[in-house]
Amino acid sequence: MSSSSDTLIDWYQSNKRDLPWRKTRDPYAIWVSEVILQQTRVAQGLAYYHRFLENFPTVQSLAAAPLDAVMKVWQGLGYYTRARNMHVAAEQVVKEHKGKFPYTYEGLRSLRGVGDYTASAIGAFAFDIPRPAVDGNVYRIMARMFGVFTPIDTPAGQRELYDLSMEVLDKKRPALFNQAIMDFGGTLCTPKNPACGNCPFVDSCYAFRNACIDQLPTKSKKVKVRDRYFTYLMVRYKDFTFIHQRGEKDIWHSLYEFPLIETVKPATLKMLKKTPEWKDWFDKEKLTVLHVSEAMKHMLSHQRLYAQFYILEAKRLPYMLAQNFLQVKIDSVSGYSTPRLIDSYMAAEPVEKYFLTAL
Ligand code: ADE
Repeated sequence: MSSSSDTLIDWYQSNKRDLPWRKTRDPYAIWVSEVILQQTRVAQGLAYYHRFLENFPTVQSLAAAPLDAVMKVWQGLGYYTRARNMHVAAEQVVKEHKGKFPYTYEGLRSLRGVGDYTASAIGAFAFDIPRPAVDGNVYRIMARMFGVFTPIDTPAGQRELYDLSMEVLDKKRPALFNQAIMDFGGTLCTPKNPACGNCPFVDSCYAFRNACIDQLPTKSKKVKVRDRYFTYLMVRYKDFTFIHQRGEKDIWHSLYEFPLIETVKPATLKMLKKTPEWKDWFDKEKLTVLHVSEAMKHMLSHQRLYAQFYILEAKRLPYMLAQNFLQVKIDSVSGYSTPRLIDSYMAAEPVEKYFLTAL
């Protein structure tokens, strides 16, 4: 008798996407692909995957690379903790496992940043370990298919859906099954407008039969989004500007940025001049405003940032600013890893022009 996993694998065989990480059994390359795909969609992930492996073709080369080089390759993907964790995990593989990825679920799970999902995915794809790689896609598919209304952001819901996935998993073909369910969730059983007309499970799917596709999966709480107001000061002194590396406590850990003043509401220049930061950095220094950007909105998972960039000119070296920041040539800023917000501003606004005009 054909099981639902056979139906899923049959669907996959005729609908699968041709993706490079499906042609390898190298746990290192598979790991790289999985971490990237937790951060972005397949279309964008492909370029990062190739770039990452060109720069760091082996786990040894990743472990030996300076963290800054890893961050630079990761730049634009966001959530930089993942890149830092990968660097640590590569060192673990080299030091604790003689350069070979562990080939058990528990061994994989012990690597920094490797959670249940990633360990199951690498385990299945590289070593045929029979565990379901359960991510948001799988929660959604299982909740719809079996009519599970327990919220997926609770331990009870996750347990229930994990157990169902384990039951459905084709234990003899875990790699195929896991790839299949990922494509099924990514292309057919999508969060919005799933293609139920093309679905091989349409007759048995609880959500379809009960017309509640939009209501599944369920969540227990709404995520609160926090508003923050950022003003970046690009200070021109000759053809230099000033940047620093962000600390650990907040977003964008270890990325570089211009002097930042954060306020609780949108700031005017008058308000900025009264902030402790401005007073610290510029004291009574005279600055000329060369340009003020539009306010830009930038979404993070739990924060809504409103950012504005000022380009200011200082005729004399702002001494206190120079004490606290790196003084760099404006055209060398692109050599540092910066948040995507800053990249997109620098790309949209050719800031160099404010630096290249004669003083
Ligand atoms: N998303 C996460 N892992 C994936 C994979 N291996 N293939 C396609 N999409 C994915």
